[in-house]
Amino acid sequence: MRAVQYDAYGGGAAGLKHVEVPIPSAKKNELLLKLDAATINPVDWKIQKGVLRPLLPLKLPFIPGTDVAGVVAHVGPGVKDFMVGDQVVAMLNSLYGGAFAEYAVASVNLTVKRPPEVSAAEGAGLPVAAGTALQALRSIGAKFDGTGEPLNVLITAASGGVGLYAVQLAKLANLHVTATCGARNVELVKSLGADEVLDYRTPEGATMRSPSGRKYDGVVHCTVGVSWASFEPLMSAAGRVIDITPNFSSMLTSALHMVTLRKKRLVPLLLSPNKADLEFLVGLVKEVKLKTVVDSSFPFKRLDAGMAEEHRRPCHRQDRRRDESLIMGMPRDCHRERILFVLFISLVK
Ligand SMILES: NC(=O)c1ccc[n+]([C@@H]2O[C@H](COP(=O)([O-])OP(=O)(O)OC[C@H]3O[C@@H](n4cnc5c(N)ncnc54)[C@H](OP(=O)(O)O)[C@@H]3O)[C@@H](O)[C@H]2O)c1
Repeated sequence: MRAVQYDAYGGGAAGLKHVEVPIPSAKKNELLLKLDAATINPVDWKIQKGVLRPLLPLKLPFIPGTDVAGVVAHVGPGVKDFMVGDQVVAMLNSLYGGAFAEYAVASVNLTVKRPPEVSAAEGAGLPVAAGTALQALRSIGAKFDGTGEPLNVLITAASGGVGLYAVQLAKLANLHVTATCGARNVELVKSLGADEVLDYRTPEGATMRSPSGRKYDGVVHCTVGVSWASFEPLMSAAGRVIDITPNFSSMLTSALHMVTLRKKRLVPLLLSPNKADLEFLVGLVKEVKLKTVVDSSFPFKRLDAGMAEEHRRPCHRQDRRRDESLIMGMPRDCHRERILFVLFISLVK
């Protein structure tokens, strides 16, 4: 099968190679998927750069990517709930990757059926980005069954892959949303339901203060370079900042808050992938309550160009102007050997 892989850490897009490799085989409780779509998340280039090497030592060569949509081509031993031909959305194991290829192996524990109302691109956008948004909001106390408090939340980097889902999910949970993003994405973020949107490059935006004077019960913090000292005065008495980009210093702050039983707290969050959340998210897309925002598309053969864009314009530079969700792709029925790719890529002008 065709795949894109790298055989050493670093090297950026130039380190990616189009290769022919054997089709992997599904073992116990696994599915072999013929892929229609895959997402690039910031973590994919972080893994290639070696940023997560101590936590995620890779077996090289490595085919990157975890978030996919495809069709079941073969079922491994012990699989009961899926059959050949099922359309699915899956999150692959981060240690093994495998999404940027024609076929990949997924565990049944992180695979859900994709109803016809949900396109492959919409589905492939969900596992990491929407999963993280959902778990961050739950950590703040958001409820999706109508029983939650009408909390006030701040979502930083609301125009990013995680932020765009977080805004929509927060509104589904009946929260009041203040969001930060770059100027040209303000209308997009508003259109997804944010009540107040701040351009983080303006002095008002940089303060992150709610224009209506609200204190935040929770923050879904999706960018970097903001200290606890900046958040603390904005928070309600028991407000929590859920930090999805924790660094050493924020981990220390968070540990200190924990041992001193602080009510206002910084809480690091690492996605804990699970099937129930993925099923919930696919269901919301099916019911047209949640959408995957996609800006552009690329064919599989141009995956390295997409990754080049991602490496050139790395996540969280203060000068970045826009995040875009890019699709790389060709419909499966046009070119069997090509795959539709959804990429969440940060673009800086
Ligand atoms: N902990 C976890 O499990 C987990 C899971 C998923 C992602 N993450 C991490 O979370 C981060 C965000 O992921 P993502 O997929 O949402 O990234 P992304 O799609 O690359 O989005 C980043 C966004 O950052 C915005 N931005 C940059 N500086 C900003 C600032 N000072 N204030 C407000 N917005 C700012 C940009 O806005 P404009 O373009 O509008 O200027 C852009 O939309 C990444 O570092 C990723 O690795 C962690």
